[in-house]
Order: sequence, then C-alpha cells, then structure tokens
Amino acid sequence: MTGRRILVTAALPYANGPIHIGHLVEYIQTDIWVRFQKLRGHRCIYICADDTHGTAIMIRARQEKRSEEELIAEMQESHLRDFNAFDIVFDNYGSTNSEENRQFCTEIWNALRSNNLIVQRDVSQLYDPEAGTFLADRFVKGTCPRCSAPDQYGDNCDKCGATYSAADLIDPVSTLSVATPEMRTQSHLFVQLESLHAFLDQWTQSGRHLQTEVANYLKGHFLHEQLRDWDISRPDPYFGFEIPDSPGNYWYVWFDAPIGYIASTKQWCDRHGEAFDQWWRSDETEIHHFIGKDIIYFHTLFWPGMLKSAGFSLPTKVHIHGFLTVGGEKMAKTKGTFVMASTYERHLDPSYLRYYYASKLGARLDDIDLNLDEFATKVNADIVGKVVNLASRSAKFVQTMGLSAEYPADSGLFEQGAMAGDAIAEAYEQGEYNKAMRMIMELADRANPYVEAAEPWKMAKDPSQTQRLHDVCTVALNLFRQLAIYLAPVLPRLAQQTGQLFGTPIQHWSDSKTQLTGTAIAPFQHMMKRVNKKDIQKMIDESRTDSDVDSEPQQATNEPESVAGPLHDEPLADMCTIDDFVKVDLRVARVVAAEDVPEARKLSKITLSLGGDEQRIVFAGIKQAYQPDQLVGRLVIMAANLAPRKMKFGVSEGMILAAGAGGKDVFLLTVDDGAQPGQRVH
Ligand code: 2FM
Ligand code: ZN
Repeated sequence: MTGRRILVTAALPYANGPIHIGHLVEYIQTDIWVRFQKLRGHRCIYICADDTHGTAIMIRARQEKRSEEELIAEMQESHLRDFNAFDIVFDNYGSTNSEENRQFCTEIWNALRSNNLIVQRDVSQLYDPEAGTFLADRFVKGTCPRCSAPDQYGDNCDKCGATYSAADLIDPVSTLSVATPEMRTQSHLFVQLESLHAFLDQWTQSGRHLQTEVANYLKGHFLHEQLRDWDISRPDPYFGFEIPDSPGNYWYVWFDAPIGYIASTKQWCDRHGEAFDQWWRSDETEIHHFIGKDIIYFHTLFWPGMLKSAGFSLPTKVHIHGFLTVGGEKMAKTKGTFVMASTYERHLDPSYLRYYYASKLGARLDDIDLNLDEFATKVNADIVGKVVNLASRSAKFVQTMGLSAEYPADSGLFEQGAMAGDAIAEAYEQGEYNKAMRMIMELADRANPYVEAAEPWKMAKDPSQTQRLHDVCTVALNLFRQLAIYLAPVLPRLAQQTGQLFGTPIQHWSDSKTQLTGTAIAPFQHMMKRVNKKDIQKMIDESRTDSDVDSEPQQATNEPESVAGPLHDEPLADMCTIDDFVKVDLRVARVVAAEDVPEARKLSKITLSLGGDEQRIVFAGIKQAYQPDQLVGRLVIMAANLAPRKMKFGVSEGMILAAGAGGKDVFLLTVDDGAQPGQRVH
C-alpha cells in the first residue's frame, strides 16, 4: 500500500461567519486522515478554500456598508487563524472568488452547454422592491399556510413541519427590509439532471464511493423518480460570477462552491510546479471529499454530474459525517454550547478537542455528542494519565545517561505494540478513529502496569539499581514513543514534542516498529496539562455572551435553499429497529380523486380520504401502471405521518404503499373489503 496519490478536501466554509466547534468536527476529522496518509508515506494534499458568493454575503456586506471583497478577506483571515490554532494544516487554502475558479466555472459551464444539459425557463419568485433583490425562501417570513403559526420562514414551518414555498406564506414580509415582497418573473438557467440519471444511479449505487446508508438514502429520496432540473442561475444583483453567455445572470453559489476544490488545487499545482491533470484528470489519483450530512445532495448528485460532464475525475469516495450535539442537544447560544473555535482556544488546549473528537468518530453518519464531563475525564485519563505520564515518569531519570545501548527485555510489550500497527492503520484508513483510539489505549493500558510495577522513582534512590533503572526507563520511553507515533495524526503537537525529546523527529508510521537505543534524551519539557473543569465553565460562560453568535446554529451555513426532499435529520441507517418501524403511521385510505400530472413522467396526483373530513394529497409514481379512473374508490395503505415533501408539482402529504420495481411494474397493496378509511394498519 505505498505510493498512492491522494487529493483530500473538506467542505468549504461559508464566508459569513466564524468557525465554531461544530465545523471543527469535519476539519479535524479530515486533517487526521490527511496526516495519517502522509505518515504512511503517501503523496497526499489537503485542499480547501472559503466559499464566498451568494445573497447572504451580499446582504451582509450591504448591512455593514462595505464591499463584499473586504468582508470575505476579513473572514478568510479569521478562518485561517482558527484552523491554525487547531493544527489543521492545508496544502492550499483558496477562495471561490478567485480567477482560477472563474475559469474552471466557465470550462464546466461550456461542457454542460455542449452536452445540451442547460435549459432556460421562467421562474416566479418573491422580490423585495426596497432591497432591490429576489428573495430566497429563507429571506421571507410570514404566517404558515397550513397551521397559521405566525413568523415562519418561507420554506418550512417550525410548528407543524409543513414545507411550502415562500409564495404560499400568508402576509409575507422580507427579512431584509420588512417590505411586502411582490411576485416577479425572471428567466433562470437549469441543468437537466435527469439526463444524467443512469450515470448517477450507477455511480451512487456501485458500493464503492458512498457509505451504504447514503446510497440507500439517495435511492429512496431522489433516484427512484425523475430528477428535478437544478436552477443554477441567479439574476442581478448577486455576488458571484456573471455567466459569460447570459449577461445579467450569475452562477448560483452552489455551482461555483465545489468547483472551488478544483481551483484551489490548481493554485497548489502552480505553486509547486505540479501537472494539474495528474490531480484532476488521472485514474491514478484518488479524490476524497469529507462533508457533513446536510450537503449530501450537492456532493453526490450535482457534483459528480458536473465532473462527469466536463471530463474531470470523479470522487473516489465521499466521506460523510453527522452533526455535533453538545450534552445531547443542538448547540445553543443560550446554553453557552454554541462555542466559537476562538473562544474554545482562549480557554482550552486544542489537542484535547482533537483527541476527544477522534475518540468519538466512526465511519457512519451518526451525530457525535460532546459531553463536557466525558471530555475532561477522557482527556485526563487517556492522554495525560496513560500516555504523557509514561514519559514524564521516566524521562528525567535518563537525562544524563540517554537510552540503554541495547533494548532490554520487556516481556514482548514493544513487539505487541508493533504488531498492532497494521490494525490501527486500517482503522484510521476506514475513518474508524474511535476504534483506532481504543486500540492505542489498550496498548497504553499494558505499558503502564510495567512502569508501576518497576517503580523507577524508587530505583532512582538506590545506586545499586542504576542499570535496571536505565533499562526500565528505556522500555517506558520506547513504549511512549510508539504510542505517540500512533497518535501523531490526532496529536501532532505531542508528536513534535516526542521528536524533540528523542532528538529524532517522527517521520513515518513504520518508526513504530523500531526501538530507539543509545540515544540522548533531551530535558523533559512539560507536554500536556490536565483539563481543568473551571476552564470549561469559563468557555461556556463566555459563549453565552459571544457577540459573534447571534442566532441558533445552522450546521450548513451556505445560502439556504430548499431542494427536493429533506436533506438532514433523516434516519440514515441500513436497519430499522422495531421502535423505528412503529413510528410509521400506516393507515387504510380511500382514493377519492386521481389525476394525471402531465409534466411528470411517472407521477399521478391522488387525493386520499382517511375518514371524516381528513384528506391528503399524495404524488405517487404509479402513472405508468394505473389509469386515474382505475384508482378512484379503491382502498390503499398509506404512510400517513411522513413529513410533507415539497415536489415540483406541489406538496406530497404521504406515501402509498406498493410493490414492484417501478414504471409499469407497480402493484398497489390491496386491503380487504370491510376495512375503513383511517384505520391503523398493524
Ligand atoms: O455548507 C456550507 O457551509 C458550504 N459552504 C459548503 C460548500 S462545500 C463545497 F461545495 F464547496
Ligand atoms: Zn405550520
């Protein structure tokens, strides 16, 4: 497994806010993976950039009465300061507002055009006449059309969960100016994703590029039906790149954001005299994207579609992680748990967080919880208590003598540690850092009793024990170094301090197989202090009043935009438990009306009665199998408590159960006569 060429990216942070501890899950996770690959001797580069375009930046710059360029430059500086503080090291950190990015956007755009994937259509959207801009759904508030709750955003209702478009709100108000928005029509450009359906089916379902739960999610939510065209342009005014062949229109921020991965790589290639095509147009280069589960759609459907159309390499793997909760809950400013990276760093050592996240991160999409008591206990017990302690209890006794000339007998401890190296490496490779940390701590659990039994601090008082003391410390320090090598991707500062202690930097994973003997030991420098719970409290208190935070956190900070289907907080798992299953409210329903949706290939619009006045409208992919008049009057089974789902032709309020592969091969599940609409299905 040598000589791989690996390009790694983390999602580009949006330039409208500082980095917080939720973001850090991803940047630390990715940094660990990159450091691991480098330590294994592979060529690996970590590429990132600021994501700078869109309405949110434009509006903020206006509010702050300065240019967008000034705002994004300041934000980039702040992001880099935070990344640096947490030892997150990029090989190149660019900006989507760069000339390189404009050029790659143009290239990919031209490819989409020449593949006949772009169409033009009118879009009616709310417009704020005072702010002089069209309004994305999240910039409009009003009364929910379903439950009449006031002050709801234009894409969904917090109270009843309904999804709708901003135009459906009652008494809509622009959040930019408090003006009443008006409906205006504008021509937009769309990518016809459906033309790439067969490719996306094959790419997403191949079992090689995505976690199984993600592949299943895509199949169940998007790929089972016609893919919606993707609205890829925004009219003036918009902060972004103007589309060269469509003056007055700009590429939507989600078009140019992932292209920023390519543009940032190009900057790195230019700085290092590297051939760009070897990185983005070569089967020999692996491309790994690390992202959060809120942006799956963009990275697993749009992005591969764009790359494929323009002849760039496709991602080898998209590694998708869950969200961060703190104390089991969403981060919240009122609780002081919405912690900025800079606030954390003022009070606590970034290495603590790197280790804690590593100890929690697995290869699945589960959310990870930061429990602050566990955080302190784990760091103190594992890193300070089991690892650093090995060095601090033995280094001082060999400072004048150095290590023994020959490695002493240690009952096989070093050998066992060396043999564990492959399994630990495999866990890192698979993103199972929690497993890797457990294995490393098991080794530490074997090393510590050795030192405790030998009691070097007692031997140091007995001159007749000098040789034995020398040997015991040689073993303890070698075992410590082995652990520091395995932890190096997670704790680079500890790795560096270890290199200084032994006068030999840690350079390769395989250093863990070689004992050091006969070398001098530098004066022991303090390596890591224990977590002090008072510092945690100070951080929380300060976060409650942090002026950088003015709202509850959003995991995705890019310009909000609703796309087909819910993207997050979905149960993304292979298996469902009985508890999951009983959550689905299956009901008998009677079809009271059915009509064809002429613009859709597969959909019929079905009105279902659940007894009494309760009716639901469902868009079902059964058009090719049933004529509307075959359906009216029939009893069917519906999932009645699915969150309403906004589709191109309206809101679908449930799902009808059927068997079959789709198309003509669809068979509605029947219900025997006598059952009543509204009855539960058990
Ligand atoms: O969700 C976000 O915050 C986006 N800024 C991520 C962009 S990732 C890539 F596509 F650029
Ligand atoms: Zn509502």
